[in-house]
Amino acid sequence: MGKCIGILTAGGDSPGLNAAIRAIGKSALNAYNMQVIGFRDGFRGLMENRTVRLEGEILSGILTLGGTILGTSRDKPHKMPVGSKVQDMTEVIIDNYHRHNLEALVCIGGGGTQKNAYRLAQAGMNVITLPKTIDNDVAMTDITFGFDTALSIATEAIDRLHSTAHSHHRIIVVEIMGHNTGWLGLGAGMAGGADVILIPEMPYDINQVAEAIRRRRHRGKNFSIVAVSEGALSQEDAKELAQLQEEKQATKDEKKQEKLISTLNAFQANHATNTLRLSAQLEALTRLESRLTILGHLQRGGAPTATDRILATRLGTACVAAIDEKRFGCMVAVKGESTELVKLSEVVGKRKVVPLDHPWVRAALETGTCLGK
Ligand code: F6P
Repeated sequence: MGKCIGILTAGGDSPGLNAAIRAIGKSALNAYNMQVIGFRDGFRGLMENRTVRLEGEILSGILTLGGTILGTSRDKPHKMPVGSKVQDMTEVIIDNYHRHNLEALVCIGGGGTQKNAYRLAQAGMNVITLPKTIDNDVAMTDITFGFDTALSIATEAIDRLHSTAHSHHRIIVVEIMGHNTGWLGLGAGMAGGADVILIPEMPYDINQVAEAIRRRRHRGKNFSIVAVSEGALSQEDAKELAQLQEEKQATKDEKKQEKLISTLNAFQANHATNTLRLSAQLEALTRLESRLTILGHLQRGGAPTATDRILATRLGTACVAAIDEKRFGCMVAVKGESTELVKLSEVVGKRKVVPLDHPWVRAALETGTCLGK
């Protein structure tokens, strides 16, 4: 019998996950005579030893499916809620890894998953990862799968919002996912021709945004589309957030640190309130009616685009080839038309943000889009 590899999907789901599972499963079975098992619901299923054998029928017909046939969760091996407690379950996970005599464990996920996978690699497991997230914020890879699909969905939404904004002479503020980075907001805003695009990397001045909308009205354009990343902040809020982060870095007092972490989390979870406030402020400052649309999880659902299917298939097959060569402790990253293995130690603890001199930023500015300043 051939070697056995395990797969899990963790973090927020992302279109293309099933395409990646299919690619790993089929190439492992067809090209390398390896067996494949899946663990359900991310690291939790690995800890609870809930498995599914990935072969034959189960790998068939899933290329086009959204979500993940394995299920997912945001549970972390070293901080797992078990009963009423949060416990470090790394030892149990290692036991289950050995119980299945795994050659390697493939963890498919975003930034958090890369970190958790790295911890397991440090604990002695043969781990390899794939980068997926609609946010496109994983470091050391050109792109993550899921991003292209979410970009298409958000762009189509902006297209549809245009006609209603135009008919009613309104501002429409549309909130786009992306966690604390602006790839999705900037990309969809540009592709959908938004008049204003606000991203976390460029804290905005509300008066400048209102002025841009007023200028449009003077040119006879009585409507405006404002694309806002969920993590976008006003200049005042960005200052407050930076102060809280500095305090958190500086304090050695554990209790104070915990309090600061929960304040910071609450600050970031407040995005819908911030976007609603932005919409109300623009209505007051421009005297145009404003409506808010939060695209939310629509952006993560449904079938992956052709680009994401191809990307996930490329990454999945490259992953099995790497396992065959015993290359572990790495992420399979996208580099142009190729893939390369990057050490997990170089991936974790970093986030790929939109550089202020990125060609997308320049192009948006040069086509007259207001970026909040
Ligand atoms: O990381 C993907 C993502 O969709 C982010 O864009 C968003 O901030 C977050 O997940 C939402 O998480 P949840 O589905 O757990 O509410």
